[in-house]
Amino acid sequence: MVAIAIDGPAGSGKSTIAKRLATELAYIYIDSGAMYRAVTLAWLENLSGKPQQSNADLQLIEKILEDSDFEFNGDKVIINNQDCSKEIRSNKVSQNVSYIASFPLVRDKLVAMQRKMAETINVVMDGRDIGTVVFPDAKLKIFMIASAEIRAERRAAQLQEQGEEVDLEQLIQEIKLRDKIDSERAHSPLVKADDAVEINTDNMSIDEVVKAVLNLL
Ligand code: DC
Repeated sequence: MVAIAIDGPAGSGKSTIAKRLATELAYIYIDSGAMYRAVTLAWLENLSGKPQQSNADLQLIEKILEDSDFEFNGDKVIINNQDCSKEIRSNKVSQNVSYIASFPLVRDKLVAMQRKMAETINVVMDGRDIGTVVFPDAKLKIFMIASAEIRAERRAAQLQEQGEEVDLEQLIQEIKLRDKIDSERAHSPLVKADDAVEINTDNMSIDEVVKAVLNLL
């Protein structure tokens, strides 16, 4: 089936654009970041104390991947029959997700699920390694970028909508740290695929980006 890959750092506009594209094309939108967030939430809920990022984590993650039932439907996330779509967007999950996403066993399991989802349907999938690892033969690969400041402002607006307090300077630092972990990790780092088209969304409206992608397609 057809796969369109949209990769890029947090807040670059991937999910907004991927959702719009999926609607325009009557494809299914898959938010791969939500899958990494789901595993992170399950990990946080199974910890006995504060996250320490220690050697014991690997065992707990293994157990969670084995015992938990994850269902992904668009950007809806169900863990063990409970809708956790809101909880996976909390700041606590955001602060720990890059760490959990750096475990090869987490990536292997989720990549297998992502490929399976696209076996029978046309998909627009956004993430960090969709064009490089998940679908190296994707029909179109977009690498979306934007400055850390603009991305933090977008994230602040999202969090404020959910009633969370925000500190813009702290968000900028967190985004830069996540970029660093996501792009420097050994396994499937965030890099632009050789055949991806880069789009900088700093000064573009959503409509302009959607139009540009549809033209490329
Ligand atoms: O897209 P997002 O910000 O919700 O993604 C959350 C985290 O998950 C991000 O910090 C990196 C990780 N991720 C990943 O490693 N690979 C993907 N394909 C998608 C997300």
